[in-house]
Amino acid sequence: TGAVTYDPGFMNTANAKSAITYIDGDEGILRYRGYPIEQLAEHSNFLEVSYLLIYGELPAQEQLDAFDNVTRRHTLLHEELKGFFGGFPRDAHPMPVLSSAVSALSTFYQDSLDPFDDEHVERSTYRLLAKVPTIASYAYKKSIGQPMLYPDNNLDLVENFLRGCFGVPAEQYELDPDLVNALDTLLILHADHEQNCSTSTVRLVGSSQANMFASISAGINALFGPAHGGANEAVLKMLRQIQAGDVSPEAFMEKVKNKEDGVRLMGFGHRVYKNYDPRARVVKGIADDILAKLGGDDELFEIAQRLEQKALEDDYFIERRLYPNVDFYTGLIYKAMGFPEKMFTVLFALGRLPGWIAQWREMMRDPATKIGRPRQLYVGAPERIYPGV
Ligand code: CMC
Repeated sequence: TGAVTYDPGFMNTANAKSAITYIDGDEGILRYRGYPIEQLAEHSNFLEVSYLLIYGELPAQEQLDAFDNVTRRHTLLHEELKGFFGGFPRDAHPMPVLSSAVSALSTFYQDSLDPFDDEHVERSTYRLLAKVPTIASYAYKKSIGQPMLYPDNNLDLVENFLRGCFGVPAEQYELDPDLVNALDTLLILHADHEQNCSTSTVRLVGSSQANMFASISAGINALFGPAHGGANEAVLKMLRQIQAGDVSPEAFMEKVKNKEDGVRLMGFGHRVYKNYDPRARVVKGIADDILAKLGGDDELFEIAQRLEQKALEDDYFIERRLYPNVDFYTGLIYKAMGFPEKMFTVLFALGRLPGWIAQWREMMRDPATKIGRPRQLYVGAPERIYPGV
């Protein structure tokens, strides 16, 4: 079978040709379908960006209206899927609840599972875009013992999600436009990031011709890990530890630099960005605005800024080219919005969903796609004789 290349973590292996997202890690550039992330964050909205990622072009107004309409009309979950939530323990983390429910969608929508049928793929696309926010808000409601709220199709995806999380049946939920806009922008920043761990997982699972629900459920599980999407939750835990006085910022930094117990400065470092993460810059601006408006936890914000400052001046971080990534400040914003820490990575998943869908679709249509099947270097025992043979 010839020589194989040893490349742990696929540092130098391209597994796909993709026309979706461009990253230049040295220059700190991120573009979706050619459009700079900064322009999209300022001028577009999450629905339009989702369309752009999935279909390749910005939509004309009628196309955007039709897309908006179809995603609004599919927000309801099957009543029997609702029952599914009762099977989890009360204190369940919403990420595995989300991935389980997304996996279960393939049992409810057996009419859209053929990965090579364009109409099936379309149906799975809008079902996922519309239902994942509903699932996420149900998972949250379940964890706090409040009744689940049926979505209201007069609202768009982001508004519905916020109402689904923070509304109660007993009173009208007042949407705060600043909060809606901030969340919308954060979702745009998370919407795709080429072949990151969860997206590569979606592609790997899909490469066996598994359906879109199954593939994306796997991606959600990959995102859960603290080295990936789970970092936003881990950052807050780290900041709270420092706030509680368990460890001073200085002592914490020493631990990180000495690699004690594998401690890392969470929210720092990136496989591709080696100068700065352009998403982190936009996030910092939102953090300043939202925390000023909603009154976030100033003490935690201060600790985060102190850690960032210390790291940026420290040789350990300079030599390794470690900078704040998108997750460093997002947790503080989500906290100020009222989300508990357990929901942070779910918010990342909501943002990344259109990217996963776009990448899965691109792969399925690419004639060069082959089943994902890496090789290995065998380092185990040579042939041995079973006792008695
Ligand atoms: N704190 C301390 N040291 C670090 C950190 C960090 N956050 N990140 C990397 N390093 C060190 C690492 O120990 C290694 O040092 P040495 O050369 O002495 O062995 C060097 O920097 C290179 O790190 P690596 O682990 O080989 O780099 P990678 O590309 O494999 O890992 C990463 C990238 C994001 C997993 C890593 O930087 C990390 O664990 N960061 C903390 C978790 C985090 O914030 N993750 C979110 C990533 S961005 C959003 C997302 O994709 O979900």
